[in-house]
This record gives sequence, C-alpha cells and structure tokens, in this order.
Amino acid sequence: MRTLVFGGSFDPPHRGHAALLAAAAEKIRPDRILIVPAYRAPLKSHAPLATAKERLALAHVGLLERLAPRWRRRARVDAREARARRRVFTVETLAELKTQDPAGELHFVCGADAAATFPRWKDPARLRALASWWYGTRPGAVGAAPAFFHRVPGRFPDVSSTELRAALELGHDASDLLLPQTYAEIQRRGLYGTARLERLRSTLKSGRFVHTLNVAALADALARRHNVDAGRARLAGLLHDAGRRFSSPQLAAYVRRRGLNVPRGAQTAARAPLLLHAYVSEDLARREFGVRDAGVLSAVRKHTLGGAPMSALDKVLYVADACSADRRHPDVERIRALAFDDLDAAFARCVAGKLAHALARRAWIHPATIDLWNRLAQR
Ligand SMILES: [Fe+2]
Ligand SMILES: [Fe+2]
Repeated sequence: MRTLVFGGSFDPPHRGHAALLAAAAEKIRPDRILIVPAYRAPLKSHAPLATAKERLALAHVGLLERLAPRWRRRARVDAREARARRRVFTVETLAELKTQDPAGELHFVCGADAAATFPRWKDPARLRALASWWYGTRPGAVGAAPAFFHRVPGRFPDVSSTELRAALELGHDASDLLLPQTYAEIQRRGLYGTARLERLRSTLKSGRFVHTLNVAALADALARRHNVDAGRARLAGLLHDAGRRFSSPQLAAYVRRRGLNVPRGAQTAARAPLLLHAYVSEDLARREFGVRDAGVLSAVRKHTLGGAPMSALDKVLYVADACSADRRHPDVERIRALAFDDLDAAFARCVAGKLAHALARRAWIHPATIDLWNRLAQR
C-alpha cells in the first residue's frame, strides 16, 4: 500500500497546506492519505495556540474535506500524535506505520521550510530509509530542501501561520490565506481571538470598535518595530477600551463596586469620570477576557493617565491610542511617523498634546497627567 503522510502543526490549516496536499495527492497517487496533526512540533519553540482536539477538527474541515472526492475517500485525519500529549518525532510515527504495513511505501510531504530543517530532525538517516520525501515550495521560502527530496509540482500560496493568526486576532480579512470553510469553523469555535473580537463588537459602539481595531493594528506595528512582543501589544490594544461599553455613571459605580485603585479616585469620578475607563478595562481584561499577563494589564491600565514606570509596551499602547488611524488632531500623522523612529519622543509629544488639548478647553487636568509630564520634563 502506498501511503501519503502529511504532517504539521496545522495551527490553523491554511490555503498553502490545502493546495500542497491536493497537488501531492495528484503526483503520488496514494492508496491512502494520513493527515497527522502534531501534538507539538519538535522544532518549534512555541506550543500551538489551538488545542490538539481543535486542530484535529480544523484539519478535518480545512484539509480532508477540501480534497477531491477520489482522494477524500482514501484520506483520514490521524490522531495518534495529537492524542499523545507529548512531542512525537516523525521517526516514531513512520516506524509505527512501517511495522503495520512492512511491504508498504511511505511518502512524507511537507513544505520547503520544514524540508530545509530535515538534518535537525531526530534520526535523519533512519527517516530517509523509512520513506520517500516530498516538499512543496512557496514564493519566499527560506533554505533549500536536501537533495533527496522530490519536489511536488506547482507553487503553493505563501502563508505564514504566525501572520495568519495575527490577522485573525485583529479582525483583518484573511480570505486570501484561509479557505472559507476553515474560517467558518474557527469562528464557530471562537478560536484565534475571534470570540474576543465578537465580544468587543457586541459590547462597544461601532465607532469605538473601529478605533479599537485601529489601536490594536498600530500597537502591533509599533511593537514589531521596537522589539516588543507583537502578540501582547495586539492584546493590550484590543482590550484597552473594553470599559468604554459603560457610561460615565456606570464607570463610577463599577470602580466603587469593585474597589478599583484609581489615583484620586473620588475626584476623578466627580470631575472626569470617563478617565476611569482605563481601570475598568484592566479589570474586564482580567475577569472577563482571562488576561493574566501583568505587562498587558499594566499597558491597559496606563493608557490614559500613564503611570510610573512606563514600560516599552505601556508606551506602545499609549502612543497607538493617541495616534490611531481614526484620530483627527492636526499633528497625528507626524507623531505616528515619529513613533516608528523614536518611541520616547513620540510618547512625550502625545503627553504634551493631551495637556495642550485640556488647557485649550480649560478642562480639569488629572494630577497623574501633570506628574507624567513632569517626569518627562525632568529628563
Ligand atoms: Fe481609552
Ligand atoms: Fe482608545
């Protein structure tokens, strides 16, 4: 029996995976196809975001069911690695398959990037003896597959799973990366931040929701530029205004009920209750959205009044909030551009801008904002 083995994290399975599998089936013409989601890929430093069970379901919808009928009939999603609850090396899986069918042929298929790492896989000599090796190339693939790999004809869509997950979290259109059926399953299960996004969409007014997406996208871009973790910046951006679902009196009541520690809390509630929303957002991030990351919570809490000290992530969110694409103040584009070159300078400009705006309106200025400015002016 000729078996095509298609392994990967599939976190989630995307158009590149589906196209490679379809082309490999046409080329290899196997008697059976095993799609084998890994519990955790041995060479990857990060654990998959979706659970093994979720990825099995996604592989079903996104890969198996997308095959042409004659291949689909011979295919199944194989759960042996996903259910193992430990890293399983490819050599273990292939050896097991060989034992089950000693006379059979095994054909292992992977992308060009994975093929390039083959020398670092466990027991490469044995692997080579166990199976025939196939790779599919994509535009921009790094590294070359070892010479004994056969190439699956065609070029496959260039999809980075990391970028795909970021796009899903930010609510960007991912239809060029993801098959519609896979996207529907992801949404149905609320995976990759889609449940969080739906919750925000249903609790915030539409303008506030758009602002939220803009802030998260800018925080993501600034974080990449300044070597801050982009995933944490996106999360902080998405949740920073979660508390804006409430009116001013509701914010004041919330702060009182939960005993939140707001500097000059009573005065703030009386003079400028909207400022309370940052503290309420932090509380919602923790309680409703399950955020445990102290750095993310800090950025959310400090995005309006600041605080001491301000981490790089705190500043990224503060600046992203002040300069998001929906902001209309006259300097916004200049400060946004500056933020990519000099985050500290942009941060100082944003604080100065808030003060100037409050002075122009003869508004009450929160003492924390004045403290924030004085700390900057001392430098
Ligand atoms: Fe805010
Ligand atoms: Fe905001």
